Amino acid sequence: MSRDDLTKIILPEDRIPKYWYNVQADMPTPLAPALHPVTKQPIGPDDLAAIFPMDLIMQEVSLERFIEIPPEVQELYKLWRPSPLYRAHRLERALDTPCRIYYKYEGVSPVGSHKLNTALPQVYYNRAAGIKRIATETGAGQWGTALALACRLFGLECTVYMVKVSYEQKPYRRSIMEVYGGEVVASPSTRTQAGRDVLARNPDSMGSLGIAISEAVEDAASRPDTNYALGSVLNHVVLHQTVIGQECKAQMEMVDDYPDVVIGCVGGGSNFGGIAMPFIPDKLAGRKVRLLAVEPAACPTLTRGAFAYDYGDVAGLAPVVKMYTLGHEFVPPGIHAGGLRYHGESPIVSQLYADGLVEATAYYQKPVFEAAVTFARHEGILPAPESAHALRAAIDEAIKGREEGVARSILVCLSGHGHFDLSAYDMYLGGRMEDVDFAESDLQASLAHLPAVSV
Ligand SMILES: Cc1ncc(COP(=O)(O)O)c(C=O)c1O
Repeated sequence: MSRDDLTKIILPEDRIPKYWYNVQADMPTPLAPALHPVTKQPIGPDDLAAIFPMDLIMQEVSLERFIEIPPEVQELYKLWRPSPLYRAHRLERALDTPCRIYYKYEGVSPVGSHKLNTALPQVYYNRAAGIKRIATETGAGQWGTALALACRLFGLECTVYMVKVSYEQKPYRRSIMEVYGGEVVASPSTRTQAGRDVLARNPDSMGSLGIAISEAVEDAASRPDTNYALGSVLNHVVLHQTVIGQECKAQMEMVDDYPDVVIGCVGGGSNFGGIAMPFIPDKLAGRKVRLLAVEPAACPTLTRGAFAYDYGDVAGLAPVVKMYTLGHEFVPPGIHAGGLRYHGESPIVSQLYADGLVEATAYYQKPVFEAAVTFARHEGILPAPESAHALRAAIDEAIKGREEGVARSILVCLSGHGHFDLSAYDMYLGGRMEDVDFAESDLQASLAHLPAVSV
């Protein structure tokens, strides 16, 4: 059988990775230390212990190359892992491209996205530390859904601060979180000081991930039985997501192929980090593989942001980290890919981008939805609007291959399905979707408020 005969490349259950790959062991430039939000001095494990369990704090700074996945988490991964790698034969034919397009489908997880890869271990380590309740934020609702299920499976309570624009656009997302037993609060809310401050300034605020993070952190810090969990950005989240890329490498080996380019969308950087990081050692060893991060033009953190220390949240409660940022006060326009509306970026992805090991590009939402519809019409799967950013770039790479007459191998992360995003598809198909932008002066005003640090 030739490699071109397969459509689904499937690994058996015993090939679920037993270790996460920690790219911090191999990064040419080590990460700058995270700082305390008040003192702006390097933050220590004890400072973080108010909101995170020690196991995750240790993973955050670990330089160990491989970290064992707890057997209980491996067992739960079996619910959907290894996820399939598809060869997009029909899309390739429609594009008339000589390129080979492979997509790694994380939408087969019970919650429909890659977020469960990290929700399970995060809740596992919290339970081991005796924590009873977890507070978090969610943008599009994918992370909140994953955390609500993980909490249910490990017997913890879960409160999710959901960005108000998504809360109103996606009422069924709230329903599924409630099915799992989660409590969902529209953010900004009157529950927290951070939420009340935002509402005092702007009673009509539709929220943002940065505001919702402030609310969840404040909630967690104010109760001893409660911790905070973040669905992206942090090093331990990128670590947990490396099951994606490790499986992809094994799956591409099965068809005797290797990617010329690996593509993922970036909100906080976790699905991109998850698929791309396992290729970093090869790249450092001289192998030619491009790692391409795709972001929305309405929230272009890597392509238009500054590489600087900034707060992870709006209220300045979360640690100050060195990352690409649009400024913690930047409120991105209300695009449909709610999970990509974050002002910052994973410090790991940021440092690798600064070092030239990762590339980035940005798209407006109409060409993104055009790619999503093209993909759905040939491959059948309806992508999440976030994932559709990566598909846009994959399709453009395949078209470039056709124009240049070069048969490249393209690997793209389809991080989730879009079954809860039908109102956005409805707007696109009805011709009512706009390519939204922000004023350069707003970006500059936000960047002017980066915290002063002396590190
Ligand atoms: C399906 C999907 N893909 C991607 C993202 C972006 O997050 P990250 O950059 O952490 O992968 C989200 C965030 O909510 C998401 O729901």
